[in-house]
Amino acid sequence: MTLPKLALDTEILQNTKVGDDIYALTVHGGALVNQAQPGQFIHLQIPAENVFLRRPFGIADTDEGTLTMYYRVTGKGTRALTGLQQGDTVNCLGPLGNGFSLSSKRPLLVGGGMGLAPLLLLAKSFQGEVDVLMGGRNHSELFWKDIFEPHVHEIFIATDDGSMGTKGFTTELLPELLGKRKYDCIYTCGPEIMMRGIAKIAAQHDILCQVSLEKRMACGLGACLSCVCDTANGERRKICKDGPVFWAQDVFFAK
Ligand SMILES: Cc1cc2nc3c(=O)[nH]c(=O)nc-3n(C[C@H](O)[C@H](O)[C@H](O)COP(=O)(O)OP(=O)(O)OC[C@H]3O[C@@H](n4cnc5c(N)ncnc54)[C@H](O)[C@@H]3O)c2cc1C
Ligand code: FES
Repeated sequence: MTLPKLALDTEILQNTKVGDDIYALTVHGGALVNQAQPGQFIHLQIPAENVFLRRPFGIADTDEGTLTMYYRVTGKGTRALTGLQQGDTVNCLGPLGNGFSLSSKRPLLVGGGMGLAPLLLLAKSFQGEVDVLMGGRNHSELFWKDIFEPHVHEIFIATDDGSMGTKGFTTELLPELLGKRKYDCIYTCGPEIMMRGIAKIAAQHDILCQVSLEKRMACGLGACLSCVCDTANGERRKICKDGPVFWAQDVFFAK
């Protein structure tokens, strides 16, 4: 059953800087909280001049009536968002899209940069029975380690500059990891080039793989077609409504 989408004016509880240009925004989520599934997103109406369209952000956490998103400042909307304070309200539409399949018994999550945000709620849903491979440019991008640590079994880290964990990309560390441990599904979110590499390695090892895609969005509801992507069988799918989570073989590999 598809639950109705909610557009709620939510009160901001905190809007805190957690990394270089990265903030955690927590709101009183109201009825959104109980409906939110890992992998779904919220479409935020940012109250600022010249920011007309809503902006999509993955649901990173829900806890006792609160909902948290992590955002990187990339343009005028996210810059304006940093100015909102505790007690201000922001309109949240959601939860939107289709989230991750939770059927895995031995999951590995692979996240790059801000792609780790929606993987947090997914990690929590596996209740400690999950490993995470995280990648970032450097040590300061991997503030995620402390946030994930209480919820996962083991964390593996790759940084581009070697300032934390193994030097290199997640795609370089993954084959080594799959040689040592058994996983039945890999869930990945991050830059598309990384997800394509992860999906290819998963396929080579005969492991299921889910990817969370990102594209600029307008309506977020499947009406405007601004977010369509090509699929392996030639059909076009809407990332906001059919995704953002897809099976890798459906969107990355030509049939
Ligand atoms: C389903 C989904 C979930 C997302 N989750 C998160 C999240 O959890 N945390 C987070 O920080 N960001 C997330 N994003 C990206 C986020 O929505 C954009 O960064 C944000 O909308 C930028 O708004 P802005 O007004 O600051 O930037 P704008 O002024 O609109 O644009 C600034 C620059 O960013 C580029 N840009 C904007 N949106 C996107 C996009 N979707 N993909 C690629 N480039 C883009 C523009 O081309 C431009 O160069 C998500 C996007 C989608 C589609
Ligand atoms: S954003 Fe309008 S159809 Fe996806």
